[in-house]
Amino acid sequence: MTGINYSEKIPNNVNLAEDRTLQRALEQWQPNFLGWWGDMGPEGSHQYDVYLRTATSVDPQGWAQFGHVKMPDYRWGIFLNPKEEGRKIHFGDHAGEDAWQDVPGEHRANLRRIIVTQGDTEPASVEQQRHLGLTAPSMYDLRNLFQVNVEEGRHLWAMVYLLHKYFGRDGREEADALLQRNSGDADNPRILGAFNERTPDWLSFYMFTYFTDRDGKFQLSALAESGFDPLARTTKFMLTEEAHHMFVGESGVSRVIQRTCEVMNQLKTDDPAKIRAAGVVDLPTLQRYLNFHYSVTIDLFGADESSNAATFYTSGLKGRYEEGKRTDDHRLKSETYKVLEVRDGQLAEKDVPMLNGLNEVLRDDYIKDSMAGVGRWNKVIEKAGIPFRLTVPHKAFNRQIGTLAGVRVSPEGRVVSQAEWDAKKDQWLATPDDRAFVASLMGRVVEPGKFANWIAPPVMGINRQPVDFEYVRFG
Ligand SMILES: [Fe+2]
Ligand SMILES: [Fe+2]
Repeated sequence: MTGINYSEKIPNNVNLAEDRTLQRALEQWQPNFLGWWGDMGPEGSHQYDVYLRTATSVDPQGWAQFGHVKMPDYRWGIFLNPKEEGRKIHFGDHAGEDAWQDVPGEHRANLRRIIVTQGDTEPASVEQQRHLGLTAPSMYDLRNLFQVNVEEGRHLWAMVYLLHKYFGRDGREEADALLQRNSGDADNPRILGAFNERTPDWLSFYMFTYFTDRDGKFQLSALAESGFDPLARTTKFMLTEEAHHMFVGESGVSRVIQRTCEVMNQLKTDDPAKIRAAGVVDLPTLQRYLNFHYSVTIDLFGADESSNAATFYTSGLKGRYEEGKRTDDHRLKSETYKVLEVRDGQLAEKDVPMLNGLNEVLRDDYIKDSMAGVGRWNKVIEKAGIPFRLTVPHKAFNRQIGTLAGVRVSPEGRVVSQAEWDAKKDQWLATPDDRAFVASLMGRVVEPGKFANWIAPPVMGINRQPVDFEYVRFG
């Protein structure tokens, strides 16, 4: 593994110095990126020294170097996992052929679309989270927010590198457009729905990093199987960073639950009004937040039947989650898969060709993975002796994409009338009142070792530092 020359403007392990044209193109894009970071990145943070993890290479020694750094000076680098000699495409019509080191002409438009769609989510989440630093519940959490933000910035770099290196002029135009679209912008929004939602409070942030960054894990895992080798190697390295984002979400929600349960036991009550009056988030409100973030996120996997999904797979561009561990023929031409539809007023399964159902396959893999963490949250509640359990809503609940879009379904999976939906939706999804209450809890707590009342401290600090370490120096 070659080390990174930090005297270069753009740290990388892709021999950037040997490709002058590419280097110049990226050096022209870099000030636009920094301008975007200044305008749309974490608000008011530019002078802070933040204890951040920086990748200086992709090996175990180099990928997580910790130290205090001002975020605008963060070294957003370009890193690909090492090349596997002789790697073959292992699914679709090209299975058995050598993996592509360049973009095959016939797949160029689809590959560009896949990379742009992934790339668009990265800066979107930074934009969605840009005000959160003003209401951080602790210095530890503030640092975690910034870590997630700089790494999403690096993921943008990863996709921009592919666009510049392999897609010529249209790639450069797409790279510029990634900085021009903005989350929630009425005229020029981000590509995918969930990335135009607001992340207005820290409970939303933890839910987002648990559920929506996990969508990232599954998309990146599917792209890590790609026959286009540079994409596979790039996304493999991105996955190592993604794990921390999901940790921030899982542990964040868990700490909120823990604190709520402590207060419930102190007050010996499960009355949401009393629990709220004590300044913590009641469990039914948590459930409604969960229902919202979960349902919005599973829409990101796309329509349940999709000819694009079939094309991406058959042409070797995007595999399944853990494609290599599956024992079928990796062509799937004669396989079927079950998707949902409404029949006689009820949800019913139907078989579709698996190739067309691959979005649903990935969504179901995602659902299994996200349920595991919800089970761990329930353990916290159980340990506190409280007879309440969080549940994951039915996958047909509150969907906006695919066959189930607009069908009214309860969290248990019962098709309901519009009238019943209207009467009950405030029990099922976070309401303006819930959001106003959660917002009322948000206040900046940033003395080392201090935590807002509504959240428990973490079990340990970052990189074996103590919990009360000075993770952010305000200067
Ligand atoms: Fe990312
Ligand atoms: Fe992420």
